[in-house]
Amino acid sequence: MKKKIVIANWKMNHDFHETTSFLRNLLKKIFEQKINHNKEIIIAPSFPFLHISNHILQGSPLKIAAQNIHQMDKGSYTGEVSASMLKSIGISKVILGHSERRKFFCEKNNILLEKIKIALKYGFNIIFCIGETYFERNKNQQFNVIKDQLKHTVFHFSENEIKFFHIAYEPIWAIGTGKSATYQQAQKMHEFIRSLFLKKYGENISNKISILYGGSINNFNAKDFFLQKDIDGGLIGNFSLNLENFLKIIYS
Ligand code: 13P
Repeated sequence: MKKKIVIANWKMNHDFHETTSFLRNLLKKIFEQKINHNKEIIIAPSFPFLHISNHILQGSPLKIAAQNIHQMDKGSYTGEVSASMLKSIGISKVILGHSERRKFFCEKNNILLEKIKIALKYGFNIIFCIGETYFERNKNQQFNVIKDQLKHTVFHFSENEIKFFHIAYEPIWAIGTGKSATYQQAQKMHEFIRSLFLKKYGENISNKISILYGGSINNFNAKDFFLQKDIDGGLIGNFSLNLENFLKIIYS
């Protein structure tokens, strides 16, 4: 059976002290509790703290991911961070396509395609986010929207490259609202997403690809999501910021 994956997306939260003490305490608690949570745990702190975070988790099974990369290799892009810079400090996972990046930073499919290419060039594992708006779901367009998002991004890549992806289904209306999708809604969408991978890449890849749910996961509803056949884990925002809450999600 596939290991469930729990990813903390801290977004623009936690300063140096909060980041380092969270990670040290997380390691300590997991070590002390000695309960087999059987999950792969990934934390995505802000850029300035990736190096120290990676250092703190070194030698543990926990991993660090970046929340973004620039689509170019290097050059005059003031304020941006490249894949090769991250690689040089030992980071090899990145979240791409998050709806907040699409909305606030105008990252359209063509830019995301370039970001994926550069991430693959440097051997990154990519957590690629897709999701529909409230308006689109209300009009029952969610399946077409998701199909389209995949068609114009992830589905450009070969079988060999797909092995570097996790997909995160994050309905935009559920992000940061406290109103998650029901686990039935999420399971239905995940089953659909898996069927698209089956059609495009065949059974082996569709079985293997991890499809995570994100959007108002908390310590009460996490278990229901993780029990679903096609939900391979969660991408957690708000409830990953507090250590006690995050631990409860890990042990769900
Ligand atoms: P929340 O868990 O705060 O809804 O955020 C989800 C998310 O955007 C994770 O990437």
